[in-house]
Amino acid sequence: MLLNASGCLDALTAPDVARSLDAYVTKTVTPLPRGGNEPVRIAETELGMLNSIGLANPGIDRFVDEYLPRLAELGVPLWVSVGGFSVDDYAQCVSRLDAHPEVSAIELNLSCPNVDAFEAPTAEIVEATRAETAKPLYAKLSPAVPDVAAVAVAARDAGADGLSLVNTIRGLALDERTLQPRLAHGAGGLSGPALRPIALAAVYASYAATHMPIVGMGGVESGRHALDLLAAGASRVALGTVLFADPGAPTRIRAELVQESSERGFASPANATGAAHATGMAEPEALESPHPVPA
Ligand SMILES: Cc1cc2nc3c(=O)[nH]c(=O)nc-3n(C[C@H](O)[C@H](O)[C@H](O)COP(=O)(O)O)c2cc1C
Repeated sequence: MLLNASGCLDALTAPDVARSLDAYVTKTVTPLPRGGNEPVRIAETELGMLNSIGLANPGIDRFVDEYLPRLAELGVPLWVSVGGFSVDDYAQCVSRLDAHPEVSAIELNLSCPNVDAFEAPTAEIVEATRAETAKPLYAKLSPAVPDVAAVAVAARDAGADGLSLVNTIRGLALDERTLQPRLAHGAGGLSGPALRPIALAAVYASYAATHMPIVGMGGVESGRHALDLLAAGASRVALGTVLFADPGAPTRIRAELVQESSERGFASPANATGAAHATGMAEPEALESPHPVPA
């Protein structure tokens, strides 16, 4: 049940780390190649990391022709993250991926804070992409909205099978001496420890409102952090920023998670899903998607 967060692991340069996960999630792919934003694109802060990568990627054609066959050789289920600047961009990428059995699931990046926003409603994108594939579709949402659970409900009603929560939230860091923004782009996406309570709140509210399968992420650095997300309602957990500092994190966190779960009386971590909610919630079995993802 451990994945990487999109954009936080290059499986082709670190195949052993990718193989230590239960599924590998690609960096977001768009229809056309993108160089991304100007450097500097990463800055450490006291509370986490700021990035403004700007969706740098080879474009869907090169991704499918060159990268997908090599990623498939890893032997790990593949989730492909797609993004774009119009509803049609998303539909086009999903339609290309639908023909490839090596793609287990598709994550719709509906929430990148580093590109000039286009505001097509979540439901419109989910509906258009749903028409292009029967593969499991996960809507990756931003926590920077007044009511993330309402967006989650809209994604579910439009045909999403699951949710990925959360993406980064906009932040700014200034250079100590010049007081100028440290990232060339100005603001960037804040990830890491500061996101933990934000992610927990988003998962908790979205699970209560939708009962959908959720990939929880945001600042996970230990088994305890992962267990919190499961208890809030996630059925999978993704590791992001922690992978830059600790490539051994998947193996370590998996072992810690098993230990932390068993100390609280759960036969396995999967049994902890939803434990933070009042009794009487539906059993996890009842929450299965009609398009189940291989483990
Ligand atoms: C360097 C970097 C690049 C990222 N690129 C993407 C991306 O391409 N697509 C996406 O959906 N999220 C992207 N994210 C967001 C992560 O997938 C994740 O949602 C976020 O970092 C929160 O998890 P964390 O606190 O464990 O890092 C990126 C994050 C970082 C730090």
